[in-house]
Formats: sequence, C-alpha cells, structure tokens
Amino acid sequence: MSTFERVAAVTEIPPNGRKSIIVDDVPALLVRIGNDFFVVEDVCSHDGQPLTDGPVADGAITCPRHGARFDLKTGNALCMPATRAIPTFAVQVRDSDVFVGPVGAELPAAPVASAPTQVSPAGDIPVVSAASASGDQVPTPEPGTDDDLRLIEALKQVIDPELMVNIVDLGLVYSVNRDDRKIYVEMTLTSPACPAGPQIVQQSKMALERLRDVDEAEIKLVMSPPWTPDRMTDEAKDMLGIF
Ligand code: FES
Repeated sequence: MSTFERVAAVTEIPPNGRKSIIVDDVPALLVRIGNDFFVVEDVCSHDGQPLTDGPVADGAITCPRHGARFDLKTGNALCMPATRAIPTFAVQVRDSDVFVGPVGAELPAAPVASAPTQVSPAGDIPVVSAASASGDQVPTPEPGTDDDLRLIEALKQVIDPELMVNIVDLGLVYSVNRDDRKIYVEMTLTSPACPAGPQIVQQSKMALERLRDVDEAEIKLVMSPPWTPDRMTDEAKDMLGIF
C-alpha cells in the first residue's frame, strides 16, 4: 500500500466498536477505542485464524482461537501461543472519515477522494473460464485446462465456516484468471454482511499462493450479481439438505 484509503465514516464505528475491512487485498480489522482508531491485519500470527471477534481490552485484542493477545498499536504479540507480531497500519481521521495507510506515512494535505475498501469487479481482466461478473448470470467456472483444474481444486480447499461447504461448490467463485504467475479471482459472499468474508478471502489467497507456479493471488469481492442458493452444486445442496 502506498497511499491512504478511506475505509469508513467515523459514525460507522461507535466507541469500542470495530469493522472488518480489506486493505491491500488483506483482511484487516478497524478497531475504535474511545476516539482512537487502530487497524491490524485480521490474521492471528499463531495459526492464521481471524481475530475478528476477539475481545478487546487494555489496548490489545485476544485471538478467540487459542488466546494469544496482540497490542493494537504495535501489533506485538503479548502472550503465547503467538510469538510473532501482526502487521499494523497507520490510521488518520480527517473530517468525518477514517483513512488507512502505510505505517509511518502521513495523509496527504490535499483532499483525498473516497475509495471503497471492498473492490469492484475487475472488468477488463480477461476471463479464462467463466462469464463476466457483470452479467446477470455468472456460472461457476468450469475448468477448461489442467491449469484451471488445479486452481479450482486449490480453491475447493477453502471452506465457508458458516455452512461447512467449500466455496467452489457453494458457487461463490465467479471467475479465475491467470496472468503469468499472478492469479485474479472474482468471488462473492452468501451475503454482504457475511462475517466470514475476511477469512474466506484470506484463505483463498493463501490456497492459491501455496501453488508452486503462483507468486500472487488477487481476490476481488463482488456483490453483483448477488449470490443465490441456485448457484450451489447438487453436491453442496445435498450436504445442506436442500432438494
Ligand atoms: S490461532 Fe490465534 S492463538 Fe492460535
């Protein structure tokens, strides 16, 4: 990240409230303590679990999984089982908006245009194996080549923690495209307010970047067209008892 991005209106976050955001394609958590705002990467350094719902006290957030605590200002791990810090971001409030940028940077004096933290459809990214996400009907990508198959299989390792079904069979993946060693994915969530969103995005990125011939995976969340249950495969419907 090289510049500041607007991530929320101050009024969106009540004192001691929080908001899940995406910063540089990474899930992050914006936390408000009094009138101070903090942003940390929403991934525990112990075992990669989200910190999203962890309790906040004394300027630190506790991982709900195994209890590691992290200083919200520095990201430092304060207790076992975590031993590594989590990344933090600079936060500045201007007028009634909250901006997030790289640590050590200052919000430019010039007015900064508002930008959504959740990305929009890539639009001009060539679609390898699915229709554009801008259409009314977006089929789940059908693997056309061995490479497509490997990418889809990698994404099948990502399980929606609410429904316990993989994101491909749920029909959340709209398109998968490759540009040399970089993968572009457009995907959606079962609902815009899905609390598992940051976790699903992060795990999708990690699943693809584990492949030997992939350097980077860019996951874009799109909310149009919205997900509907008829996007699920028959297997997923069977698992969920939907006939
Ligand atoms: S995953 Fe956070 S403490 Fe283990």
